[in-house]
Amino acid sequence: MKALVLTGVKQFEIQNLPTPEIAPNEVLINTAYAGVCGTDHDLYAGRPGSAAAVPPIVLGHENSGIVEAIGAEVTNVKPGDRVAVDPNIYCGQCEFCLTQRPELCDHLSAVGVTRDGGLAEQFTAPASVVYKLPDNVSLRDAAAIEPVSCGVHGLDLLDLHPYQKALVIGDGFMGQIFAQLLQAYGVHQVDLAGIFDDKLARNKEQFGVTETFNTTREQIPADAYDVVIEAVGLPATQAQAVAATKKGAQVLMFGVGPQEAHFEMNTYDIYKKQLTIQGSFINPLTFKDAIALVSTGKMNIGGLISHELELEQVQDFLDGRISGVSKAVVKVGKVGK
Ligand SMILES: NC(=O)c1ccc[n+]([C@@H]2O[C@H](COP(=O)([O-])OP(=O)(O)OC[C@H]3O[C@@H](n4cnc5c(N)ncnc54)[C@H](O)[C@@H]3O)[C@@H](O)[C@H]2O)c1
Ligand SMILES: [Zn+2]
Ligand SMILES: [Zn+2]
Repeated sequence: MKALVLTGVKQFEIQNLPTPEIAPNEVLINTAYAGVCGTDHDLYAGRPGSAAAVPPIVLGHENSGIVEAIGAEVTNVKPGDRVAVDPNIYCGQCEFCLTQRPELCDHLSAVGVTRDGGLAEQFTAPASVVYKLPDNVSLRDAAAIEPVSCGVHGLDLLDLHPYQKALVIGDGFMGQIFAQLLQAYGVHQVDLAGIFDDKLARNKEQFGVTETFNTTREQIPADAYDVVIEAVGLPATQAQAVAATKKGAQVLMFGVGPQEAHFEMNTYDIYKKQLTIQGSFINPLTFKDAIALVSTGKMNIGGLISHELELEQVQDFLDGRISGVSKAVVKVGKVGK
């Protein structure tokens, strides 16, 4: 089978690999689509994502496809099923797994990070992370279930209510996902701050966003929001997120900054406003919710996918030679929609 193999830092090779073997609890999947995201940028450049990727390895952690074969112990899917795969695999035995916080697992492994992923015509995964898709969710949209599930985890960590007014900072793929998710979770007003007029306008016209702010020329109102989601990962936007809070607010620090980055905040404000500053890491047990949100149309994912690439174009994308990308998915195999 054809595979895009990361052979070293910023080095890819198209290789012909043997069909992967499956263990009794695993599933062999013919890949349909693999989403590529900021994590792949990091792994490609030799930086860790949720874990480190050690070459040679096949990336691709946002995958959909069709089940080709199942191990003897697998009962949740069968050959021919259309599926999406949660990349994250937890050990089930460490202190974090045993206290219902598996995302913090001491022995996290992941499809497309620590084991071969979906940038190949076939890949394998434990059955416990393989989810059958409803008929109305396309394999193309299903390649973006994983990012939606990360957003769902972030919102699960907050205390959300319809009365709240929310601000999302960041008009990238995740910021736009949050703009829709917060509405699906019943928050009555969602505003969006970003740097691209076209994306901001589209979110207002098509995706229910109320106010938008282009922060290259407009100020975000101070002391104005009950919930602020930071989905950029820069010290400046993290500071903006805290400054936008009103009393009693919650801030979700979702964006991932460089490992050595810091931002400044007024610690008196945390006390006086009784702020909650919440981190969020990956997507424990949120795939079913993410699939349901896409299936019911509460989350329009197709409208956010801007590019469909071939395996041969992934390096161009990661090197920044493809511009104007809102979200790119790679059409890997020959299987259908
Ligand atoms: N916590 C998690 O589990 C998790 C999961 C997925 C992604 N992330 C992180 O979330 C962040 C966003 O992810 P993404 O996929 O949307 O990445 P992305 O690269 O598409 O988003 C960044 C976007 O932020 C916008 N932006 C840049 N500067 C800005 C500014 N000053 N003000 C407002 N918007 C600005 C731009 O539109 C840019 O494209 C990244 O840091 C990513 O690593 C975290
Ligand atoms: Zn990703
Ligand atoms: Zn564990």
